[in-house]
Amino acid sequence: MRRWPCGGCRRLRVVGRVAEAALLCSPPVDPRLRAERERFIEAARKADDDAALYALKVEFLGKKGSLSKLRSVMRDLSPAERKAFGRDFNTVKDEIEALIDARRKELAKRRRAEELARWEDVSVVLDPVPRGALHIVTQTWRRLERVFENMGFTVHDGPHVEHGKTNFDDLNIPPDHPARDMQDTFFVVPPTDDGWERVLRTHTSPVQIRTMLAGPPPVRVVALGQVYRRDDDATHTPMFHQIEGLYVDRDVSMADLKATLYHFVSAVFETDLDVRFRPSFFPFVEPGAEFDVRCPFCKGDGCSVCKRTGWIELGGSGMVHPAVFEAVGYDPEEVSGWAFGFGIDRMAMLLHGVSDLRLLFDGDQRFLEQFPC
Ligand code: PHE
Repeated sequence: MRRWPCGGCRRLRVVGRVAEAALLCSPPVDPRLRAERERFIEAARKADDDAALYALKVEFLGKKGSLSKLRSVMRDLSPAERKAFGRDFNTVKDEIEALIDARRKELAKRRRAEELARWEDVSVVLDPVPRGALHIVTQTWRRLERVFENMGFTVHDGPHVEHGKTNFDDLNIPPDHPARDMQDTFFVVPPTDDGWERVLRTHTSPVQIRTMLAGPPPVRVVALGQVYRRDDDATHTPMFHQIEGLYVDRDVSMADLKATLYHFVSAVFETDLDVRFRPSFFPFVEPGAEFDVRCPFCKGDGCSVCKRTGWIELGGSGMVHPAVFEAVGYDPEEVSGWAFGFGIDRMAMLLHGVSDLRLLFDGDQRFLEQFPC
């Protein structure tokens, strides 16, 4: 809305929305001026953008515009008529200018309102958007990978459906070994023409075989992945994750194994922690040992996590058995090596203080959300 003094009647007039333009001035007496004024009001109603308004201005008020042309009629009027005509002429001209101005503002306002309706208000506070995170096992998996990569190990993988020979025989696990019992193994395909069954790999150790068959020593690899056993209780799930380590070269000793495990454990738990070996038996290593780490929670004083022993059992390890070297064509007189294997899930539980293995695989958001990364 705009208030402006009427050039003709000197009263204040209100010029507003053109569509309903109600001009308070009395219309001009001269019929030609009156007609021009009506024509303009009608045309202004249809003008929908700035360009159309500009064209209207030129059409009516331009030097050669229709209103300007009417000026010439003044020549034929008496002085009194000319005075009245001149006053009305100026009033109509002012009206037209004011209406064009008002209409332009009205269009700008409408455009802005439309734009605002399209925009999102960035100042509005929204509900928090839920963020996904890597699973606690994946986080641990990547952490282990990084530590071993930093020590110069390469990451390898193997198939989950494994050849019976690679999963057992090449690893010196004889046919009557308990690990081959139906209780432990998921058999996928009974013995085929080649005489071998296919199984879901029961550990990551077959990747040792695949790695050594693929190339000559030296090798320094880790393999992380899912393994499967027919087991299901608070400390066992049918699928779980293992990390396997294998280092083969000339003159590799058990001392290298212990140093590597010591460094690895300290890097993962971010504090110096002792490791120890306990003699144990695995068919594919000799000597074999289980390795324990000083309990990261009580530092050895004894707590519920380590069952008051001060130590936590991590996995199996040992020097690669000569029979395994022979199965892959390595000369046990020339090279020696060590291997280890342990559960990634158990490591995740230790790192995050989780007590029930099954929680890791239930997929319960309320549990998983507690470990963002
Ligand atoms: N494969 C063994 C297991 O699953 C662990 C292991 C790996 C032991 C390498 C010794 C050497 O229990």
